[in-house]
Amino acid sequence: MQKKIAILNGDGIGPEVTAQSIKVLNAVAQQYGHQFDYKEALIGADAIDKTGSALPAETVDICLDSDGVLFGAVGHPKYDNDPAAKVRPEQGILGIRKALQLFANIRPITTYPSLQHLSPLKPKQLEGVDCVIFRELTGGIYFGKKHTSEDGTYASDECSYSQAEIERIAHLAFKYAQKRRKKLTLVDKANVLDTSRLWRKTVQAITGQYSDVAVEYMFVDNAAMQLIINPKQFDVILTENMFGDIISDEASVLAGSLGMLPSASVGNGTALFEPIHGSYPQAAGKDIANPLGSILSAAMLLDHFGLQTEATAVREAVDWTLQNNFVTKDIDPVNFYFTSTIGDLIADYVSGKIPGSIKQENIELRKSTII
Ligand code: IPM
Ligand code: MG
Repeated sequence: MQKKIAILNGDGIGPEVTAQSIKVLNAVAQQYGHQFDYKEALIGADAIDKTGSALPAETVDICLDSDGVLFGAVGHPKYDNDPAAKVRPEQGILGIRKALQLFANIRPITTYPSLQHLSPLKPKQLEGVDCVIFRELTGGIYFGKKHTSEDGTYASDECSYSQAEIERIAHLAFKYAQKRRKKLTLVDKANVLDTSRLWRKTVQAITGQYSDVAVEYMFVDNAAMQLIINPKQFDVILTENMFGDIISDEASVLAGSLGMLPSASVGNGTALFEPIHGSYPQAAGKDIANPLGSILSAAMLLDHFGLQTEATAVREAVDWTLQNNFVTKDIDPVNFYFTSTIGDLIADYVSGKIPGSIKQENIELRKSTII
């Protein structure tokens, strides 16, 4: 199979985690006889520095011309504390989501027994947690009309949804639930918001088409609590843009590290794959960031290409590193391995070089030196 993949490294740790995914994809290509052609494009603060825009037109063209996009991260501290900044790195990711019409963001929350101690939750609550968040990605308050009064003392952000926008992601989420434990929870604030009432009405109207899926409705404030006190009750969570942004960061604590979680953003055309973490500027260039969120996003890209065997091989390689404590600093602050070493190990595993031909001593040599 031959595929064109656009690479949007972005800012902070974006380039170094994405580089590990490329290593792994190259190993997959070699092992299974595929050809992946990569094309890099600018986005975020990096793009602002080089072109003045967080999303140059050329980047959109490169993405539109590709079969899939691998995205790193955007964001830079110099913009975070400057509310007056006219151009912001985040415009890059929001812009590309809109340009590619990526209306559904799929965020699987997986827990790993070897990482349970990292979560503030008790192991008993984490057992059997396996849910996936379907977050609407191109509507709602993120993209509604924004206004700040001339004197700067009043501001508003409009939240709007159309029935069609809700239906298209709801159908995807229902179909996904049918392949899983057949439960869907719509998270909204229908006791207060008109948009949420439209979500509820729209979802209620299509439940009949998916009679094998049990549907539950939950207010977002309660859902935020339920995710902590009883996370295993969830299978597929369907929600609007901003609620999904908030609860997916919350859900990441179930996995033990924000660095672990991948996501796929899909629409009608080219899909985009990105870890859910941000640009983590404090770690940039230090080779300490966790590349698993990006590598697992690359596995979702392989799924999207219909390469299930290859995607499973990547996930098995990830499991193998975790089981053998080949982990980055976020997971083990003392005995940790570098970002690039984890990428090498996973690529080698996919290539069939481990555990046979790689000696433990060689791996030990690449471990961090702790003083
Ligand atoms: C995410 C991020 C983005 C969002 C930011 C970087 C604009 O938090 O992908 O969850 O809010 O959607
Ligand atoms: Mg977020």
